[in-house]
Amino acid sequence: MAGLDAKRIGQNVIAYDEVISTQPLAHEAAAKGAVEGTIVLAELQTGGKGRLGRPWHSPKGTGIWMSLIIRPAIPLPKTPQMTLLTAVAVAKTIREETGLPVKIKWPNDIFIGDKKVCGILTELNAESDRVNYLVIGIGLNANSVESDFPSDLAQIATSLRIESGEPLKRVSFIQRLCRIFEEEYDHYLQAGFERVKQEWENHSYTIGKWVTLQTISQQLEGRAVGLDEEGVLMVKDQAGQIHKVYSADVNYRAN
Ligand code: BTN
Repeated sequence: MAGLDAKRIGQNVIAYDEVISTQPLAHEAAAKGAVEGTIVLAELQTGGKGRLGRPWHSPKGTGIWMSLIIRPAIPLPKTPQMTLLTAVAVAKTIREETGLPVKIKWPNDIFIGDKKVCGILTELNAESDRVNYLVIGIGLNANSVESDFPSDLAQIATSLRIESGEPLKRVSFIQRLCRIFEEEYDHYLQAGFERVKQEWENHSYTIGKWVTLQTISQQLEGRAVGLDEEGVLMVKDQAGQIHKVYSADVNYRAN
C-alpha cells in the first residue's frame, strides 16, 4: 500500500492480501519491537476474530480490516479507555468522510440506525502491572453490498456504501482515521480522559436507553445514564441505585 503520509499513528504499515487474522500478526510485530502507530492491514481475513470469541466476517476487498499497535504509558485499569477512544475516533472519521449519523453502542460497536457498521477488538499485552502494548483491531464494513453478508448478518449489519450509496475511498479513510486517532490520543495522554468521555457520550446510542445486561455474575435492568470518570458504564435500576458495569452483553428495550 502507498504511504499514509502519517506522523505517528500509521507511520508504519504492514499490508497483506490474505491472512487468517491481522490480530496475531500485529502481536507478532509488536513483540518484535514494531513502533507505536504500526498498522497491520489485510484485504481478506479467513479467520477474522470478533469480541467474546465470535467470528468476524471479513470478505475480500469490501472492508477495512486493520490492527493498530499502541504503547501508552498508562496504568492497566485505564486500558479500556483506549477502546472508547478508538470508537470516538472511528465515529468522527465516519462522520467527516461520509456525513452519516453514526452512534456508538456500548462498549465499542459503531452503528448506523439499528445496524452495526464497525466493531473494535482490543487486546492487551502486559507484564505484572505494566502495559507493554495494545493491539486494537478495527473491522469496518466499508464497501460491502447486501449480497456480501450471509443472511443472518444482513439483518443486523450494514456498510458505509449501503448507507451512503457511494463507494468509500479506503486509503483516504484510513489516513483520516490515523490523523483523528492521533489527535485524540495525544490529547488523552496530556490531559486525561474527560474529552473522550464527553465525545463518547455525545455519540452514544446507549445513554438514556433502558437496557438489560448480562454480566458474569448477574442480570441487571435499568437506564444507562452515562460513563463514570474512568469510562465504566453507569446503569440506574428501578430502585434508583447506580450500578457500574465493566463488561456485559447488552439488550435494549423500546422505552
Ligand atoms: C467485534 O465487534 O466483535 C470486534 C470485531 C473486530 C474485527 C477486527 S477486523 C481486524 C482485526 N482482525 C481481526 O481478526 N479482528 C479485528
